Amino acid sequence: MAPEAAVELVQARTKDQLRFITCGSVDDGKSTLIGRLLHDSRMIYEDQLTALAHDSAKHGTNGNDVDFALLVDGLEAEREQGITIDVAHRFFTTPRRSFMVLDTPGHEQYTRNMATGASNAQLAIILVDARKGVLVQTKRHSFICSLLGIRNIVLAVNKIDLINYKKEIFDRIVGDYIAFAADLRFTSIIPIPISARYGDNVASRSGNIQWYDGPCVLDYLESIDIQSNAVIQPFRFPVQWVNRPNLDFRGYAGSVVTGSISAGDEVVVATSGQTARIKRIVTHDGDLTRAEAGDAITISLEDEIDISRGALLTRPTEPPEVSDQFAAHLIWMDEDPLVAERKYILRIGTQTVPAGSITAIRHRIDVNTGEHLTAKTLGLNEIGFCHVSTALPIAFDPYEINRETGSFIVIDRYTNRTIGAGMIAYPLRRATNIAWHPLSVSKNERAALKNQKACIIWFTGLSGSGKSTIANIVDQKLFTMAYHTMLLDGDNVRHGLSADLGFSEADRVENIRRVGEVAKLMVDSGLIVICSFISPYAAQRDMVRNLVGKDEFLEIFVDTPIGECARRDPKGLYSKAKSGEIKNLTGIDAPYETPLRPEIHLRTTDKTPEQLAEVVIEVLIARAIVDSH
Ligand code: ADX
Repeated sequence: MAPEAAVELVQARTKDQLRFITCGSVDDGKSTLIGRLLHDSRMIYEDQLTALAHDSAKHGTNGNDVDFALLVDGLEAEREQGITIDVAHRFFTTPRRSFMVLDTPGHEQYTRNMATGASNAQLAIILVDARKGVLVQTKRHSFICSLLGIRNIVLAVNKIDLINYKKEIFDRIVGDYIAFAADLRFTSIIPIPISARYGDNVASRSGNIQWYDGPCVLDYLESIDIQSNAVIQPFRFPVQWVNRPNLDFRGYAGSVVTGSISAGDEVVVATSGQTARIKRIVTHDGDLTRAEAGDAITISLEDEIDISRGALLTRPTEPPEVSDQFAAHLIWMDEDPLVAERKYILRIGTQTVPAGSITAIRHRIDVNTGEHLTAKTLGLNEIGFCHVSTALPIAFDPYEINRETGSFIVIDRYTNRTIGAGMIAYPLRRATNIAWHPLSVSKNERAALKNQKACIIWFTGLSGSGKSTIANIVDQKLFTMAYHTMLLDGDNVRHGLSADLGFSEADRVENIRRVGEVAKLMVDSGLIVICSFISPYAAQRDMVRNLVGKDEFLEIFVDTPIGECARRDPKGLYSKAKSGEIKNLTGIDAPYETPLRPEIHLRTTDKTPEQLAEVVIEVLIARAIVDSH
């Protein structure tokens, strides 16, 4: 094979590499599982096996069998304690994919090691001992995985041999786990009954578990689609160092975190706003015309602008957040508790901020239950939601959008120890810098120019109830009547404005808050704003109602029984919820608070969408929002 081809192959592999972590309680068999995977996928060489047999005889806990855990628990000290104490990385490759495994410790005090491993992983294998079921530790690890952005879970119910391969026990554990995980942000949970010790369903399907017809662990890991979207995300290039070998060359070296860039493209320094065009993309193997996520490059620019280590280069059209205050989840990793307002060093990507401080702890999170607790401080391994301020503005993305540009570490200024790790949620604005700027043209004047009254027509109801269909017809009718409208629809908004939000309670609340604010701005511009959102929480609907004038909000309850919505199932969501593929579906495993006093109550079972839209138009006429047609 030509050397270039070999390089290409290696690169293709690394880009398709699946990084996963294993977590579970002590003794759940994580290390045994990894050992098994490595062994059965033929990644252990004979000489290692011999050494292992020797070690097993000395330390093993499996009688005369080979103890696969010893393969992973590298350190002698750990072997003697019979536990794993640090994050161990293992690489292995099968003909179908390459893998990086992080084995994380199961002890309570090692939350931080687990966090270190999880922040880099795309999938987690959560091990549960079939004899013990879902434990507090299982919940803790799942919670941290969710917080750190892992969305794919394999629920490996291990030691299935010790419960005589009983389906009922497996089903109960899976049921318990899925019920618990409903509040987390996983997009897939794949339960697999395994015996890591005997290899059942690890690298091949087990003959002992006839009732199970899903994939074995390795098959699943090899086939899961983790097509990373790193390349299609906005371009992010944190400058690692400025390379100035002679007076004729100044280059900015670093790795492309996400996105891609070509020679000739314009880039901007996020914090200063200065722009320049890329002259060359230099690498060890010569210049590139284009670089993408994962490439280590040196960029030289057409124009001299001020760039130092730590700067974040992006495209001018896709800027990151720049702020000196933000809200973030913080995992505290030091024996000494966090002190609000004390100055710490913050490092985010390659940017170092000498004086950062945690200005407020909004709440502490009980990782065993997910509950929010009030807190004045955070102790070792505790997680809080905090406000952070920095002496100078920094560039970042919310962690949900970009794990690399959205995470930071906290360093003690005196000891230089890493004492915390954070995930940025969103920027905060300094309220003191902002005043309301009065506008000369009023809302009423803008509406009058359009011959209408501005208002929000808010459709609420279950998914598949018919909201969007009716809202769309109302919109068309008003348009034909020459009114100025805008239609905001749940699915559409979630492609842009709310693309970072899921369907947890907090996300739905935030979704409706954003939509409410946007709708209010549109009302201010004199429009009739038609909104179609499930908006399951009465308090959120009232929040929007209170954003505008008393007569400017009409709540329309699209009342379709859940059975009928599930029968229509226009997007296939109900059948997905039934098979466990999606969770938090309103009406199924997430609540819907029925409107008590909607302005309009539409029952959809005995009328066509056309007729129902006509009812809405008539109410609008009756309320003098529009004139009769
Ligand atoms: S809301 O709860 O925040 O108001 P919204 O109306 O924006 O929800 O979005 C709902 C749309 O997202 C639905 O029409 C449906 O197509 C889609 N969807 C995907 N998953 C879910 C889910 N788990 N629950 C509800 N809707 C979902």
